[in-house]
Amino acid sequence: MPQRERYLFVCINRRDEGHAKGSCTARGSEDIYRALKEQLNACGLARVEARVCTSSCLDQCSSGVCILVEPDHFFYGRVTVADVPEIVEGIVSGARVERLVLTSEDLAKG
Ligand code: FES
Repeated sequence: MPQRERYLFVCINRRDEGHAKGSCTARGSEDIYRALKEQLNACGLARVEARVCTSSCLDQCSSGVCILVEPDHFFYGRVTVADVPEIVEGIVSGARVERLVLTSEDLAKG
């Protein structure tokens, strides 16, 4: 398979119920992962443009659901399934969805 232009790493880390940090899976990241896969596939982008992968904790738990976009090297945070079409459109157009990009203040919180 060819190397894709971008790789999206979706955190699917789990923690015990009641854990202070929570987890991206508890916030719905597995549904987001599946929706991204389906929508990129439907657009014909999955084989050449972008591959969606699962990840363990990206250490941005307070901003979960978290997605690391490489090689652009930024995080999307607080992502919901409703955001997926906009993220896919951004991959098509080459533009980030700025409202979802974690800021340096977000990153400092971890
Ligand atoms: S649990 Fe997802 S970033 Fe930590």
